[in-house]
Amino acid sequence: MRVLSAAILLQASALTAFAATAEQWRSRSIYQIVTDRFAMPNATLPDCDPEARHYCGGGWQGIINKLDYIQGMGFDAIWISPVVENTVNRTSEGDAYHGYWTNNFYGVNENFGSTYDLKGLSSALHAREMYLMLDVNVNNMASNSSVANVSWLYPFMNQSNFHQRCTINDPSDQKQVEQCWLGDAVVPLPDLNTENSTIADMLYTWVSDLVNTYNVDGLRVDKAKNIRKDFWPGFTKSAGVFTMGEVNSTDISYAAPYTTVLDSILDYPQYYVLRDAFASKKGNLSALVHAAQSSQALYHSGAFSSGTFLENHDMPRLQSLTKDQALVQNAIAWIFAGDGIPIIYYGQEQGLSGAGDPSNREPLWPTAYNTNKPLVSLISSLNTARKAAGFTSTSFHENQMKMVQESPSTLAVLKAPLLTLLSNGGNTSTPSWKVADTGYAGNTTLVDVLTCDEIMTDGDGNVETSTEGGMPRVRRLATLCFGCALH
Ligand SMILES: *[C@@H]1O[C@H](CO)[C@@H](O)[C@H](O)[C@H]1NC(C)=O
Ligand SMILES: *[C@@H]1O[C@H](CO)[C@@H](O)[C@H](O)[C@H]1NC(C)=O
Ligand SMILES: *[C@@H]1O[C@H](CO)[C@@H](O)[C@H](O)[C@H]1NC(C)=O
Ligand SMILES: *[C@@H]1O[C@H](CO)[C@@H](O)[C@H](O)[C@H]1NC(C)=O
Ligand SMILES: *[C@@H]1O[C@H](CO)[C@@H](O)[C@H](O)[C@H]1NC(C)=O
Ligand SMILES: *[C@@H]1O[C@H](CO)[C@@H](O)[C@H](O)[C@H]1NC(C)=O
Ligand SMILES: *[C@@H]1O[C@H](CO)[C@@H](O)[C@H](O)[C@H]1NC(C)=O
Ligand SMILES: *[C@@H]1O[C@H](CO)[C@@H](O)[C@H](O)[C@H]1NC(C)=O
Ligand SMILES: *[C@@H]1O[C@H](CO)[C@@H](O)[C@H](O)[C@H]1NC(C)=O
Ligand SMILES: *[C@@H]1O[C@H](CO)[C@@H](O)[C@H](O)[C@H]1NC(C)=O
Repeated sequence: MRVLSAAILLQASALTAFAATAEQWRSRSIYQIVTDRFAMPNATLPDCDPEARHYCGGGWQGIINKLDYIQGMGFDAIWISPVVENTVNRTSEGDAYHGYWTNNFYGVNENFGSTYDLKGLSSALHAREMYLMLDVNVNNMASNSSVANVSWLYPFMNQSNFHQRCTINDPSDQKQVEQCWLGDAVVPLPDLNTENSTIADMLYTWVSDLVNTYNVDGLRVDKAKNIRKDFWPGFTKSAGVFTMGEVNSTDISYAAPYTTVLDSILDYPQYYVLRDAFASKKGNLSALVHAAQSSQALYHSGAFSSGTFLENHDMPRLQSLTKDQALVQNAIAWIFAGDGIPIIYYGQEQGLSGAGDPSNREPLWPTAYNTNKPLVSLISSLNTARKAAGFTSTSFHENQMKMVQESPSTLAVLKAPLLTLLSNGGNTSTPSWKVADTGYAGNTTLVDVLTCDEIMTDGDGNVETSTEGGMPRVRRLATLCFGCALH
């Protein structure tokens, strides 16, 4: 009920909801779905080879059928593939099963279902107090042939609606990044002339219609760095809901300015060091601390509302880089420990290990959505702990996390009332931590959210503890009632 009324409020006050909406997303955690690969709408479970890049049959009704699975892990939002009508013909680079080859902004991709199914998904989510985040790409459309004939695109079917065709030869030339074309000779991606105010206004109107038609709660904005920055405030205002931009960069000073024109960004600069920090026992935890402190310092709202992630449809899954479950569990615990919005890419909880596009877009149905998997339990516990921390401490989502590192392979993240103790020593290590200035009172019982072990702080509130097998520990005050009730 609460989310339902929040969504109605957003519709009614689209122009003023900007801050409030980002505020509402701060406490959420997101499950990212490749719609074609997550769940079938019916009982058939087709073979699906990601390498073929063909449609496999997943759709919006399939997601509706599996909302218990998603909500059961504690997620209260999903991000799904772009929904608009895509290139219909199969190319030598496969089908548009990912949704990024826009053909018609005003149609839906019928491979995923009907407009009725998409509205049904939105209602089913709201009935569960969950949010719907749509992925939108307004940078470009897609041509199905090398000549890039745009005459069948809609509503932009005139060559003059697009920039002159050119290739991004120099990624440091921002004008090229914004105005040249992505794609390749097989599937050129004609780049919309978003410098033209008529075209910008058409896109603003489109996004407003999209949000209203499907009762959307937030947008993941594809290729945000490929459009001029001053296009985005008008876009976010017209959308009237939370926007999180994709700015794929290792350079935080390049990425940070996008947090002033969109509500937030996916934290790519942190992603790269996070992945490397836990992909091996040699990973650099200091670099991770530095990256997280930089997002706190440089992003418009600190690191709050930025998307914290380890995997997505473009990047190699963590388990293609390491099979060490201690490293994997520590890396996942980091996602839930900090200020950003945790994002888990579908299949991460099942231990999928595809090494990059297209191998990392596996069908999920062969896993039978097994909830007796260690990472399903881990993620459920972390979601529960984070949500309870937000309920019991009104300042949980306003106070910045503090990081304490005292050895090359251990790290403590304090975000009261949670203390997350991490290590990248691997599955044969016995890490220990000694954390001062925790804010906990002296002689207080703390409970491990993951194991239910109890420890005491010392007389000054310091925490001293260790684990076997390199596993993470997530401590919380014993007086807070959550987490272990589940075990
Ligand atoms: C199941 O759904 C898929 C994808 O929409 C479709 O191709 C297939 O025909 C359906 N099977 C049955 C038995 O309805
Ligand atoms: C592309 O698909 C359309 C609609 O199915 C079909 O009419 C057309 O012949 C196809 N073109 C090619 C080159 O396959
Ligand atoms: C491109 O798409 C148009 C419109 O769907 C279709 O008529 C045409 O046959 C397609 N061409 C190729 C090469 O697939
Ligand atoms: C683009 O396709 C349309 C419709 O098939 C055709 O009339 C037109 O000549 C084509 N234009 C170019 C530049 O190939
Ligand atoms: C395409 O746009 C140009 C410039 O605005 C205009 O002159 C031309 O008539 C348009 N062509 C079509 C087919 O609408
Ligand atoms: C902007 O695009 C519109 C629609 O295609 C066109 O009519 C107009 O001439 C363009 N304006 C400029 C300055 O190019
Ligand atoms: C992201 O950026 C990296 C580094 O510049 C590049 O190698 C990669 O291809 C990019 N990926 C996507 C999906 O943009
Ligand atoms: C680890 O990262 C820190 C901070 O970015 C850097 O100063 C240091 O040189 C790195 N250490 C190694 C071994 O690369
Ligand atoms: C421990 O990590 C090594 C790689 O460092 C891996 O080969 C082994 O399977 C792991 N065992 C467990 C139980 O995670
Ligand atoms: C903690 O316990 C010790 C030993 O019982 C006691 O001396 C000390 O006063 C206690 N401190 C607090 C803050 O309760």
